[in-house]
Amino acid sequence: MWLITGGAGYIGSHVVRELTAAGESLVVLDDLSSGDPARLPAGIVLERGSVLDAEVLARVLREYAVDGIVHIAGRKQVAESVERPLYYYRENIDGLRTVLDAAAAAGVRRFVFSSSAAVYGPTDVDLVTEQTPCAPMSPYGQTKLAGEWLVAAAGRAYGMATVSLRYFNVAGAATPELADTGVSNLVPMVFQRLAAGAPPLIFGDDYPTPDGTCVRDYVHVQDIASAHLAAARRLTADPDTALVLNIGTGLGVSVAEMVTVIGEVTGHTDLVPEVGPRRPGDPARVIASAEAIAKELDWRAQYDVREMVGSAWAGWQARHPG
Ligand code: WQD
Repeated sequence: MWLITGGAGYIGSHVVRELTAAGESLVVLDDLSSGDPARLPAGIVLERGSVLDAEVLARVLREYAVDGIVHIAGRKQVAESVERPLYYYRENIDGLRTVLDAAAAAGVRRFVFSSSAAVYGPTDVDLVTEQTPCAPMSPYGQTKLAGEWLVAAAGRAYGMATVSLRYFNVAGAATPELADTGVSNLVPMVFQRLAAGAPPLIFGDDYPTPDGTCVRDYVHVQDIASAHLAAARRLTADPDTALVLNIGTGLGVSVAEMVTVIGEVTGHTDLVPEVGPRRPGDPARVIASAEAIAKELDWRAQYDVREMVGSAWAGWQARHPG
């Protein structure tokens, strides 16, 4: 039995859907601060509570005989983490420590942790491998890197198989209802501009990249979900697993290319993007090496950016009819 923390959120609900479809049994813990019970498939048990609540965790682990945890609950806004670092350390580090403590006490044997490409610094490598030195640029990234250390140390000390998964730029939706409702990333931010009749805004076109705009590795959230299933299976098969893996495609897409695809998918090819100043702290190029995850979990991304944008747009339209 798996416990999925943050299972009612954007990424968590995709993981719940994927594991359930593959026949895994699971229970969700979510405080609904950003999650929504309507994201959960029928028949999935939701325990409403915080990962900071040791009593709730102990009860849920016992009551459902949980022997594996996928820990996704956490705060994820880079800019907010700069304003409120102690809040991020409490939510992401105290939260994780509390979950690991309860897991160790309950004899949990498998642990999957949501990490992020935010653990890397402003790299100048072609492809970011798991061996690329980490130098997080924000308190958010720091909490993810320190989180990986907690997971690895607890796994070793208490006999848990562990995987930390470093997500690159997540986009898209499996169904319109599961789409991201936040507007803090490129795709939804451009949708918001288009909905207001404004042209997409590009944060800088003077980067040392082929078209001058930043290059990222966009991954469909459905692919993120299938990577979690592959990780869960690996932990079940091999109790000695202790891995840190990128979830990326190995392909770079520029902001300008992304904006073109968004224009085509939404039918707004008439709007010429506006180029504004650089956004502070944005590295020019961040592309994952996806070799380690292919080798370790036999996982590869299946979806391209057009599918990400198309599915995200279907979700946006469902929430903004007319
Ligand atoms: C992508 C590119 C912007 C909006 C962040 C976190 C990272 C991870 C994913 C959590 C950048 C540009 C954006 C717009 C633009 N999060 N942009 N116009 O910054 O690569 O990564 O989310 O783990 O840790 O840092 O993602 O979607 O904000 O931006 O030009 O209206 O799009 O400058 O180059 P980012 P993003």
